[in-house]
Amino acid sequence: DWTPDSFIESTIAELKAKLGDDKVVLGLSGGVDSSVAAVLLHHAIGANLHCIFVDNGLLRKDEYQSVLDSYQHMGLNIKGVDAKQRFYDALAGLTDPEKKRKAIGRVFIEVFDDAAHEVQGVSWLGQGTIYPDVIESVSVKGPSATIKSHHNVGGLPDFMKLKIVEPLNTLFKDEVRRVGKALGMDPNILGRHPFPGPGLAIRILGDITPEKVDILQQADAIYINNLRSAGVYDKVWQAGAIYLPVQSVGVMGDERTYENVICLRAVESLDGMTADWCHLPYDLLAKISNEIINNVKGINRVVYDISSKPPATIEWE
Ligand code: XMP
Repeated sequence: DWTPDSFIESTIAELKAKLGDDKVVLGLSGGVDSSVAAVLLHHAIGANLHCIFVDNGLLRKDEYQSVLDSYQHMGLNIKGVDAKQRFYDALAGLTDPEKKRKAIGRVFIEVFDDAAHEVQGVSWLGQGTIYPDVIESVSVKGPSATIKSHHNVGGLPDFMKLKIVEPLNTLFKDEVRRVGKALGMDPNILGRHPFPGPGLAIRILGDITPEKVDILQQADAIYINNLRSAGVYDKVWQAGAIYLPVQSVGVMGDERTYENVICLRAVESLDGMTADWCHLPYDLLAKISNEIINNVKGINRVVYDISSKPPATIEWE
């Protein structure tokens, strides 16, 4: 019978036999799958696993540093790459969601390839692919698939010519979480909501500027922290704030102001294919709205998305 412990034991043994003294590079995203894959590989081959964590400037507030810290805490051999400016430059002026996704995918490949080249004599690419990704192999979801579908003609980047090792490719998400738990991993990493590879770039409708990212990060952090402190974070499948390029009127003393709108989204779902909006308590929504409007400069209105999927997708772009 399948148990997390038996899976861990047999997988580590298989990885040791397969990889020997070979080196592996693996891109960490902060998400559950890549993190559990990294810890398993780390148990099997130790410092021969070279992890790369890219700051694309589109992560949640303070996420880059806190995730990097927790990976280092786990003893992983990890290199953080601050590539914010490269992503912002590539995104400047782009408004079409698919163009934004492509630009992010392209820059990610360049940045990752540069970082992978710094590891001498690497022969494997580790990936956190799980079973549903294997079935849905043409999907555009997830960094690895993003790399495949968004890669331009003109030859594969070198890291994509590496042999691939995917220790989780027979598991479903809940099994991955159980494995992570049995490995003693941080519940904060294991319980994390899904977060799209293009990050906040698809939660800012229209063009991206560092200023908009900053505003959205602040609003999103207030939202997520409140979900956590109210004890509802773990009951929600995915939540996030969206920056709308819409200005509406507000009053400040005698003045009328035009400022932007933040939309809050929270859904219940099993797999992201269908989703229902969460009936968050009104008093919690009121608290979040007040905190955002009082603290985030540039926002004077907060709305809550009460649409279910289908037809409304979880993300707004
Ligand atoms: P939608 O918006 O299609 O999202 O209902 C379903 C799930 O997929 C995530 N998502 C993405 N993940 N790259 C990703 O890695 C993407 O381009 C992307 N678009 C949507 C979304 O966050 C949700 O979990």
